[in-house]
Amino acid sequence: MLQERFNELIKMLTPRSKPLLGLDISSSAVKMIELSQSGGGFQVEHYATEPLPKDAVVEGNLADLEVVSDAVKRAWRRMGTRTRGAAMALPTSAVITRKVVMPAAASEDDLEIQVESEANQYIPFTLEEVNLDFQILGPAPDGAEGEVEVLIAASRKDKVEDRVAAAQAAGLRVHVMDVEAYATQAAVELIQKRLPGGGRKQVLALVDLGATTMRVTMFHEGVQVYLREQQVGGNTLTNEIARHFSISAEEAETAKRQGNLPESYLPEILQPFRENIAVEIARAHQFFFTSTPFSHVDHIILAGGCAGMPGLEEAVSTRTQVNTFIANPFARMTLAPGIKQRQLAADAPALLTACGLALRSFDE
Ligand SMILES: Nc1ncnc2c1ncn2[C@@H]1O[C@H](COP(=O)(O)OP(=O)(O)OP(=O)(O)O)[C@@H](O)[C@H]1O
Ligand SMILES: [Mg+2]
Repeated sequence: MLQERFNELIKMLTPRSKPLLGLDISSSAVKMIELSQSGGGFQVEHYATEPLPKDAVVEGNLADLEVVSDAVKRAWRRMGTRTRGAAMALPTSAVITRKVVMPAAASEDDLEIQVESEANQYIPFTLEEVNLDFQILGPAPDGAEGEVEVLIAASRKDKVEDRVAAAQAAGLRVHVMDVEAYATQAAVELIQKRLPGGGRKQVLALVDLGATTMRVTMFHEGVQVYLREQQVGGNTLTNEIARHFSISAEEAETAKRQGNLPESYLPEILQPFRENIAVEIARAHQFFFTSTPFSHVDHIILAGGCAGMPGLEEAVSTRTQVNTFIANPFARMTLAPGIKQRQLAADAPALLTACGLALRSFDE
């Protein structure tokens, strides 16, 4: 008994693998987090966000590699860590995934050949242009005995290479290349576990309101069952502010974040903007219901840098009549000295992907 407890303790105290920095490069910023395992949970060791100028990253493309890698370097320095291994992600749109069924007895080499020939059939690029990866998921769902289900993922090589180059130029080594949607989902699962009943058998809506894109994803039992994307986000609001008050976009962005705008901002700009967002979220729910067997949503999780915008949470819950809250995957984590709870809670909604990537350190 004692020995058993001792073994448990040792397991908890020894890190299972070396830490990786979760490194998320999005259109508005470079985001970096390092987690460690402590007790049965996690600790936030370091994190940093480094803003990117407009057009450095466009629709997931690193348009200006030098500017991006400089931002990565600055973020890493500010973190004050010695860890140089990183987990990064490709934009979900840059990755094609397919599930196929294959014979279980196939050797690794045979599988590789089969994967290539399968991939050839549905990937609109030549095999020289893509990185191909596969993972055996388990026995085929309704297949015959002796067959396994295999997940094939193909991505354009140049997208992978750009990310690796940006990290390398900043002195980091990329150990994991994930997909944004999967990394984000890992962070959502942490949030889900804290819901009543562990969020099981429930439908969760994740609303990611970033700088350029609003993404509404529905999850059921850990599976993504619906996705709607729209080109609206924080930049839309910033541009409206700039136009309305005749100031530059940079000034508008700063004033927006500091809440430092004339009184007319609230009724004339902010209120209509967040109402419009709430309407679009309600609409996404309707599309979800008409295109799937689902007929209700249990919780809405607001994420992305705009999640904490004054009044948004209430506007969304009023419009949809669904319990709505702001994402914080770190709520149950301990914090290293120097990390402030309140600041982290405010930054958390924009850090979901980076958090999910940092969690890859502890994958078996
Ligand atoms: N305190 C704040 N008040 C209002 N808006 C904010 C605040 N902080 C950040 N934002 C907005 O959040 C947006 C950035 O969010 P986020 O980091 O999630 O975007 P992103 O992931 O870079 O963009 P995208 O997902 O569209 O590529 C910016 O438009 C920014 O103005
Ligand atoms: Mg984003």
